[in-house]
Amino acid sequence: MDKFEYFSGIPEVGIVPRAPHAGPLLRHVYEQEHGRGGFAGKVTHTYHLYPPNNWLPGETRVLDGWAPLWESRLRPIGGVHHALGVSTPAEPRDVYRGMARLVANATVAMNVTAPTAPMDYFFEHYSATLVVFVHQGGGTLETLFGPIAYGRGDFLVVPKGIPHRFELAAGPQYYWVYESFAGDPEKSEAPTTGQFLTHSRSDYKFPRTLDTRNEAGRFEVVSKVGAVYTRRVHPTHPFDVVGWRGDYLPYRFAVEDVRPLTADRSHVPPSGHTIFKLPGCYLCVFTVRSVEKEGMWLPFFHRNLDYCETIGYHFGDFFSRGGVVREGMVTVHPVGLPHGPQPAAQKALMDGHRPRLHNEVGIMADFTNPAQISEFALGLSQPDYMKSWAAYTTEPRFAHRPDRLAEVRSLAEGLADARDELRPRPDTP
Ligand SMILES: [Fe+2]
Repeated sequence: MDKFEYFSGIPEVGIVPRAPHAGPLLRHVYEQEHGRGGFAGKVTHTYHLYPPNNWLPGETRVLDGWAPLWESRLRPIGGVHHALGVSTPAEPRDVYRGMARLVANATVAMNVTAPTAPMDYFFEHYSATLVVFVHQGGGTLETLFGPIAYGRGDFLVVPKGIPHRFELAAGPQYYWVYESFAGDPEKSEAPTTGQFLTHSRSDYKFPRTLDTRNEAGRFEVVSKVGAVYTRRVHPTHPFDVVGWRGDYLPYRFAVEDVRPLTADRSHVPPSGHTIFKLPGCYLCVFTVRSVEKEGMWLPFFHRNLDYCETIGYHFGDFFSRGGVVREGMVTVHPVGLPHGPQPAAQKALMDGHRPRLHNEVGIMADFTNPAQISEFALGLSQPDYMKSWAAYTTEPRFAHRPDRLAEVRSLAEGLADARDELRPRPDTP
């Protein structure tokens, strides 16, 4: 025994050889590599009791129509905002068989699932890394590397290809599931704000408890490549791992650990709340934060000319939606079409109200052009969402008035010398 303890340069748990592919232990356990970038990217090695390829001959099947709503046909989207109601599946489905696509571009998709049935199989997604946001529910994500407990408000990142299974706790479950087809989520950082805004890598919780299964039986594994679902059957439990080493791992990240950027005298744009960058998509979290002390505290009217914006509403005031949107709903704002506060929120700003807190959590995913919406999502679209801005045409304070131009000129003249309270004032003691 060494006199001192040491960290290995690579995370490792359990029984592992001195180095990948090296040492006499490899004559007694089965090493498996899980690697990205064609043997040149992130990689983890797992060490198994039984050969990973011990599937039963003649049991492999392509499963037709296995997750039909996951393959819901996509349509072009434009010129109309959508608010998608909460999905309420007609029949009991598990996490993946009940997965339903909402929005997608070439490299990222957003889906929803509201599972009520257990998974009686293990799942491997060969086309995408999954980012799951748990809007409601909880349980245990069982993975090859060990279990991860999760609950409401957690993100779960499951890298492409990693065998896993959701064990659901009792009660309703509702997840938004983002698929990244062209790369793993990258933590968003900027040189101006450093590596601890909007969160720290120490907030990621990787599995460390091995739950090695030395079990015989019939263990079904379903894999997905594009729209092809295939089942195979193994005679031993797939989580027969005695140790692993590497940095290609699933993890949990709690939304409460997002520590948002705030600004006293300006409005932080949505991109300032980015947590993950995916190829073709930004994933942002609007969380509980102080209201700006001066300047705009509402989002400004804007048209996003390069992204289709989605927001999943987790809880809270949803200040900019003026009470139109409820928890669990998703808005889809297509590229170009202007949007901004609903009239009630705009009135609050104009009347000088300034709340202390933005008391809300919303998950925004912005998709680069061209993004499409699914037929399933169109079926959830609330017919009245475009009307939620109707007061801009009917309320006298927003509607046309012959004296409006003169009024603005006069107000602007009165405000010409107005300044922020928080500005530097060297002459004031
Ligand atoms: Fe927007």
